Amino acid sequence: ANLPTDHPLRSGRTLETPLLQALTARKPAHPPVWFMRQAGRSLPEYREARGQTAMLDACLTPDLAAEITLQPVRRHNVDAGIFFSDIVVPLRLAGVDVEIVPGKGPVLGTPVRTAADVAALPEIDDDALEPIREAVALTVAELGETPLIGFAGAPFTVAAYMVEGGPSRDHLLPRTMMHADPEAWDALANWAARASGAFLRAQVLAGASAVQLFDSWAGSLSVHDYLDHVVGHSATALSAVADLPVPRIHFGTGTGELLGAMRDAGAEAVGVDHRIPLEEANRRLGGRTVVQGNIDPALLPAPTDILHRHVDDVLRGGSQAPGHVVNLGHGVPPSTDPNVLTDLVSYIHASTVASGRG
Ligand code: CP3
Repeated sequence: ANLPTDHPLRSGRTLETPLLQALTARKPAHPPVWFMRQAGRSLPEYREARGQTAMLDACLTPDLAAEITLQPVRRHNVDAGIFFSDIVVPLRLAGVDVEIVPGKGPVLGTPVRTAADVAALPEIDDDALEPIREAVALTVAELGETPLIGFAGAPFTVAAYMVEGGPSRDHLLPRTMMHADPEAWDALANWAARASGAFLRAQVLAGASAVQLFDSWAGSLSVHDYLDHVVGHSATALSAVADLPVPRIHFGTGTGELLGAMRDAGAEAVGVDHRIPLEEANRRLGGRTVVQGNIDPALLPAPTDILHRHVDDVLRGGSQAPGHVVNLGHGVPPSTDPNVLTDLVSYIHASTVASGRG
């Protein structure tokens, strides 16, 4: 392996943990669980630590990013930390004018819509990744045996923000661009793939034991558009860590029709949202791929017995796959009572439903 000798995976520190066991289709002692967006606004200690610091400034302040990453691990006893950062951090590091507007999301100073706009995009200098490497190193030093998951945005989801210039519901502009100007689209998606790939690789070399590629908005694509204009770029992003022994998770929402293609892009595990049951996801994946998911975030505030019955269903569905990492179908809603998540982790850890076929 080309990992540094003190890397948590190479030294064996995180190799025999439930997360790594499930991701490599070995039998964990208990089902591993983490939550997308486990760090963030659902935690009072997060709001306290962030204070008035702008989101992207917080991401680029190594001790703050490390502290925020560790908060949910301490509080909930989850089986992994997810690096506190954002899918648009690589854009900022490249010098693109981007902000995260509270309550809204990523907004660009100038949208990227033409071949000339794409050609003018700056490349990330390796030195610019230093705050990321520092934050990851600080985090894994504190995490001990708990693995850190690194992440990046998939090219479609990142490019959707770049073309629209901000959040959108249907992502019409990037979907038009891939047909109306496929060369400009390919150049943009390739730029995003290289930026996300460099971001992923920096996190892994600095100590992350697994990675997740977020294609949150891929569900707005037809299967044809995904195959013709998108999946190759996602494969490029995932290939940035293909020579390193880290399991790769590929996640999207509304992607029931895309699961096989997402796996074939180069992922060891596929993240599934709440819209299809895990037994059906496993069937669509041919029964040979580790799955992650898919507790419906809508059930978090429901009465405990109703939530637990839903979680039992999720665990039963996941137990049919070669491995199962328990997660939500999408991120923790900011209004979530953090105690519900802490209790959920104990409930899942105590579950007697076998996790994966092992
Ligand atoms: O805990 C974690 O999951 C790690 C951190 C993380 C953040 N963003 C922190 C964040 C991760 C993995 C992301 C990924 C991300 N960012 C995605 C993919 C995941 C998904 O939810 O689908 C997307 C689409 C983005 C873009 C983005 N950044 C959005 C839509 C928002 C929310 C805007 C808002 O205010 O509602 C952000 C901001 C953001 N990223 C916050 C956090 C904790 C909120 C910042 C705040 O405290 O105001």
